[in-house]
Amino acid sequence: MADPRCSRVLVTGGAGFIGRRVVRALLEIGAEVTVADKQPFPDGAVRGEFRTVLGDLRDPGVAARALDPGTDAVVHLAAVTSVLRSVADPAGTYDVNVALTENLLELARKHETRTFLFASTNAVVGDVGRNVITEQTPMRPMTPYGATKAAAEMLLSCYTACYGVNACALRFSNVYGPGMAAKDSFVPRLMRAARCGGGVDVYGDGHQLRDLVHIDDVVGGVLAAWRADWTGPLIVAAGRSDSVNDLVAAARRVTGAPIPARHVPAKQGEMPAVLVDIATARALGYQPAYDLGSGLATVWPEFADGTVADGTAASVADGAAAGHGSAAPVGAEAAK
Ligand SMILES: NC(=O)c1ccc[n+]([C@@H]2O[C@H](COP(=O)([O-])OP(=O)(O)OC[C@H]3O[C@@H](n4cnc5c(N)ncnc54)[C@H](O)[C@@H]3O)[C@@H](O)[C@H]2O)c1
Repeated sequence: MADPRCSRVLVTGGAGFIGRRVVRALLEIGAEVTVADKQPFPDGAVRGEFRTVLGDLRDPGVAARALDPGTDAVVHLAAVTSVLRSVADPAGTYDVNVALTENLLELARKHETRTFLFASTNAVVGDVGRNVITEQTPMRPMTPYGATKAAAEMLLSCYTACYGVNACALRFSNVYGPGMAAKDSFVPRLMRAARCGGGVDVYGDGHQLRDLVHIDDVVGGVLAAWRADWTGPLIVAAGRSDSVNDLVAAARRVTGAPIPARHVPAKQGEMPAVLVDIATARALGYQPAYDLGSGLATVWPEFADGTVADGTAASVADGAAAGHGSAAPVGAEAAK
């Protein structure tokens, strides 16, 4: 078993939403951390010392400085993360999500880095209707985002088989939690609506099912895969799906705001359900702890009073997404 506590670890995309929480957890357990990101790590986001490499990891010099000899593990989070952006720019998405990943895997091989943990997505399987997604579900991605994550998973597989790198593709469902002020996914939209007394638009009847996983559960999944030296895909999710209507209702309970919902026609391609099986991760010791109520309660405070606990700036766009029709409806990007 690997021991993250005594490891030198590189976190790419460490200044991002998930990255900041991963870095915090790694410092807490005593790991020696390098953060590589093209944006600076927000001041005050974590306690503790770590090395930073600031720059675009597509630059081979930046990547080489980040993943240097003696690195035991990589948590590779840097990516084009927006499905919509990936559709607008498939080639650019390939450069970041595939070519950059290949370069890091190559450095890992050269330096005999033991562990490579890659942030993937259940979007690699595409639309499976109401079928439950497992690690065995065939990959049929429907967007450049999903396709580039699937391609990177194939590279990971070969680096495990040929070179013995313990490479794991962590397939996250929709992640939410503290630190979302700069995001435009449906949880922050609901929070902004609550704060500004606005409402939200919901695609269709709102009965579509989504798996929302809390960021601290995601961190637990990363550590469980690492400790187990897991290779191949691993679904890290809540393991329970709630409807978009349930989500709106939970946000009303947690915030105390009415958040009126207006139902608008569903987009083409809106998935009826995302249902995932987390039995494999559970067998490695992964234990998601949050339900929607307890999870949203960790998100609301930074929106309620505009202070952001982890050092990110409160979004200047706050409020822009609050009124009816002023933002993409709730349910968008649900295939992440
Ligand atoms: N948030 C989710 O719901 C979710 C779901 C499934 C998978 N994921 C995956 O998890 C990972 C992290 O997601 P997130 O929500 O924290 O995203 P994020 O956008 O908040 O963070 C990504 C970070 O990567 C950095 N980055 C991007 N391209 C880079 C480059 N070329 N060089 C250096 N840094 C670069 C960005 O500056 C950013 O800080 C991503 O790989 C994403 O695809 C996220």
